[in-house]
Amino acid sequence: MDVFEAIQKRRSVRKYLDKEVPMELILKVLEAGRLAPSAHNSQPWHYIIVTDPEKRKKIAESGKWAGFLKNTPVVIVGCGDPEASPNWYMVDVTISMQNMVLEATELGLGTCWVGSFDQDTVKKLLNIPEKYKVVALLALGYPAEGIEITSKILHTVRPRKKLEEIYSLNEFKK
Ligand SMILES: Cc1cc2nc3c(=O)[nH]c(=O)nc-3n(C[C@H](O)[C@H](O)[C@H](O)COP(=O)(O)O)c2cc1C
Repeated sequence: MDVFEAIQKRRSVRKYLDKEVPMELILKVLEAGRLAPSAHNSQPWHYIIVTDPEKRKKIAESGKWAGFLKNTPVVIVGCGDPEASPNWYMVDVTISMQNMVLEATELGLGTCWVGSFDQDTVKKLLNIPEKYKVVALLALGYPAEGIEITSKILHTVRPRKKLEEIYSLNEFKK
């Protein structure tokens, strides 16, 4: 699968098979995150792989739109270090996690970004040191429905702005 195909095929998956994701695949996904660029190469990130059902349940209950994490085999918790990169840690962690999303797609795994969680609850639950901020969560697992959905259908279900609407040439076009 080439990169553009992975970009086209990716969609948010919120229903997963009750099937363990081999650690080898989880680590391949994390490796894609590890190789991401970061400002000054500061790599201001740390990732927690959460498979424990009790912990997933508590994370799921901490956010209004995070309920499905209860039944998601793996939750990757993306932590950023504002001391290492005060201005860019959120961007850096986000780029790194999107690398993970694309690699997961190539491996036939589904993902979903989750921003709906309670910072303090997640930090306490996972013993995350004070200085870190949880930037985002990533659900990971084998999709209950196939991810082989054509981009045509995908864009009808989850419409995107037209290409002409999202760019301008040389100056910002109103
Ligand atoms: C930063 C971010 C936070 C998100 N938070 C949630 C969330 O808390 N719960 C959820 O179900 N989906 C969440 N999503 C998924 C979006 O709803 C989804 O990406 C969007 O509707 C487009 O659909 P698609 O990913 O299938 O293309 C989030 C996505 C991003 C990028």
